[in-house]
Amino acid sequence: MNDKTHLVDEITGHRRMRRNRKADWTRRLTQENRLTVDDLIWPIFIVPGQNIVDPIRAMPGVNRMSVDKAVEAIREAADLGIPAIAPFPDVEMDKRDPTGSEILARDNLINQFARAVKTAVPNIGLITDVALDPFTSHGHDGILRDGIIVNDETVDQVARAAVMQADAGADIIAPSEMMDGRIGAIRRALDAAGHQDVGIMSYATKFSSGFYGPYREAINTGGLLKGDKNSYYISPANGTEALRDAALDVEEGADMLMVKPGLAYLDICWRMKEAFGLPTFAYQVSGEYTQIKAAAMNGWIDGERIMMETLLCFKRAGCDGILTYFAVDAARKLKSA
Ligand code: PBG
Repeated sequence: MNDKTHLVDEITGHRRMRRNRKADWTRRLTQENRLTVDDLIWPIFIVPGQNIVDPIRAMPGVNRMSVDKAVEAIREAADLGIPAIAPFPDVEMDKRDPTGSEILARDNLINQFARAVKTAVPNIGLITDVALDPFTSHGHDGILRDGIIVNDETVDQVARAAVMQADAGADIIAPSEMMDGRIGAIRRALDAAGHQDVGIMSYATKFSSGFYGPYREAINTGGLLKGDKNSYYISPANGTEALRDAALDVEEGADMLMVKPGLAYLDICWRMKEAFGLPTFAYQVSGEYTQIKAAAMNGWIDGERIMMETLLCFKRAGCDGILTYFAVDAARKLKSA
């Protein structure tokens, strides 16, 4: 007799977890979470000029693109079914100053890009950031005065920038600079300008993280930044504080919430979704992308498999979607599956 049921029965009784895992069809039938193309938001890097596709050294497979090239890439993303993009500009150095005033130029790179995309690919969602870091000469997200990132003056500026971005075609404003009171100020400014339909995706819990390194290379802020962002981003040690910060954003009128970085902060994703029930997104940031790519390029891990696994895990952790540099690769993979 090969049957050894009597050996395990005392421990498991008649309960066998493996029954539901026994065949492909049982596994499909009992699968709790699924990743679809509808879950993907694609962050991209924009540079001035034309016909430019410039590889980012620390992010293999990701390029800085001029507006014309970006529009082509976005057309492909829209054809794959990706719902939305999130552009970040790599602004010329001579346009950066201590207050990031270029963000208020009506025809700055991000607004030019917004107009071009909305004309060429009108049905892809456009989510723009209003943090000042691409525009400041010191790489901080806010206005720097006497060694301090000043809160309320920065809020005033990002609220005005949000209206200009909405004028240019942004569908959702996603402020990432973590100033206090910004969500309410942006909401009021958008409403006063007649942009009632423009939403706000709050970078509600943005942590002061080492995972942003490659992004700072991508938009050339790394070399500029002196000190750290600890006086405005949240400490990786603090989960309850992150929830309290998100609660304020919800009260101030955020339509959606984001957690950033992603994988190391899945507990925050879960807690936010549980606490507020708002659409909740994770940003799988540059360093997370780079870790996977680098290990895969060395043949040490299966990069595609881990790409899909990490994205699915965000869904399991309660996220409605993910901002990821893998968006196009993942969408292609989902389509071919
Ligand atoms: C700053 C900003 C950051 C990212 C996007 N906007 C963080 C930072 O540089 O401090 C990070 C994105 C990524 O790492 O992919 N407003």
